[in-house]
Amino acid sequence: SHKSLKESSVLQSDERIAAAAASLAEGKLIAFPTETVYGLGADARSTEAVEGIFEAKGRPSDNPLIVHIADRAELDAFVQGVSEADEKLMDAFWPGPLTLVLPVRPGALSPKVTAGLDTVAVRMPDHGIALALIAASGCPLAAPSANRSGRPSPTLASHVREDLDGRIDGIVDGGPAGVGVESTVVRTNTAGGATVLRPGGISAEELGRVLGAQVGAVSADYTADIDPEAARSEAGARGEALNPAREGAAGAKPGDTGPAAVHGEPEEAPRSPGMKYTHYAPSGRLEVVLGAEERTADCIRGLLAAAQARGEKTGVLAFEEHLESYRGLADVVLSLGSGSDLREAAARLYAALRRFDEEGTTYMLAEGCGEEGIGSAVMNRISKAAGGRVHRV
Ligand code: TXA
Ligand code: MG
Repeated sequence: SHKSLKESSVLQSDERIAAAAASLAEGKLIAFPTETVYGLGADARSTEAVEGIFEAKGRPSDNPLIVHIADRAELDAFVQGVSEADEKLMDAFWPGPLTLVLPVRPGALSPKVTAGLDTVAVRMPDHGIALALIAASGCPLAAPSANRSGRPSPTLASHVREDLDGRIDGIVDGGPAGVGVESTVVRTNTAGGATVLRPGGISAEELGRVLGAQVGAVSADYTADIDPEAARSEAGARGEALNPAREGAAGAKPGDTGPAAVHGEPEEAPRSPGMKYTHYAPSGRLEVVLGAEERTADCIRGLLAAAQARGEKTGVLAFEEHLESYRGLADVVLSLGSGSDLREAAARLYAALRRFDEEGTTYMLAEGCGEEGIGSAVMNRISKAAGGRVHRV
């Protein structure tokens, strides 16, 4: 029943926020920019509207959604019992790329939003258009990333159009999203600590500083390590030594992917249901190479040569400083920005992965990065896209 997104329904932010907000209030689906990625919004209280989100995205219905608010006063309507640790994190990071998992007030939201859990994930985006839209709609907005399930999250309105044209009611175009990877999802515990359920724009270190407590992170289980020797051999180049991805593998059950380190209540380790899904997998085969500069470059050159020899269309995703050394060795060479600022890598990653698909590359290699700060989110997303194939050299 959704029309194609004609010019008239691609809303210009400044003049059309009121119209988009009115559509949301009527139960329609509107994509909008946030400081992380574009979200696909709908009234979180309306089961019909929320079902529309799952349908438009092709998203499994047991993966709950994040609810977006513009003002902390809105929390009371659907959350009960916010802890001191939660308050501290809100004070420090809202508005911003931090999602808190909080106890839901029974009956206040569509049960489809929480996928039947007794908690709800909430955030206040740091984006003028998003905040104005939420406030004007008068709704708590359920908003997952505005991509088709299994595609990279959209960092531009054109990405949303590529994936969801004809399936939603409008897009508010606010130009490029800022951070480029999704928010950090966190659950606090009764001991005043917290666990990062999904790494994102705010690091565990930053959270720990504010809480004055150790913040555990999700397990690094998303990587399927590769024998470093095999990685440099031709067998490695053919992928024979690679383990299957542990996470997102067929048959993964809820509870398979718990956090490795939990401060406080290890026996009650919280789960982020979304972590069990393979998120994005490019049509070609993506592998990540992580190690000291020289060894990384050697490994990538070796793997590329072997891939060229078997007739693959190859791609490289590397830091700006190394691009020259790969030119001529791969068919498509894309930049992650400067290695000295991983915020650039976060901002560029998803668009680069979409670009590989457009170019039809069949074998791609990406340089990995350190897991400090936003680097942990970059490595998390890139490793997931690679199905856990990480060469540690
Ligand atoms: O940056 C973002 O967070 C973007 C923008 C649009 O705000 N949104 C986003 O939403 O990434 P989505 O739906 O793609 O990701 C929601 C994540 C999933 O990993 C989901 O499993 C987790 O949050 N989540 C939602 N509700 C939860 C809950 N009650 N407990 C634990 N994890 C939850
Ligand atoms: Mg998503």
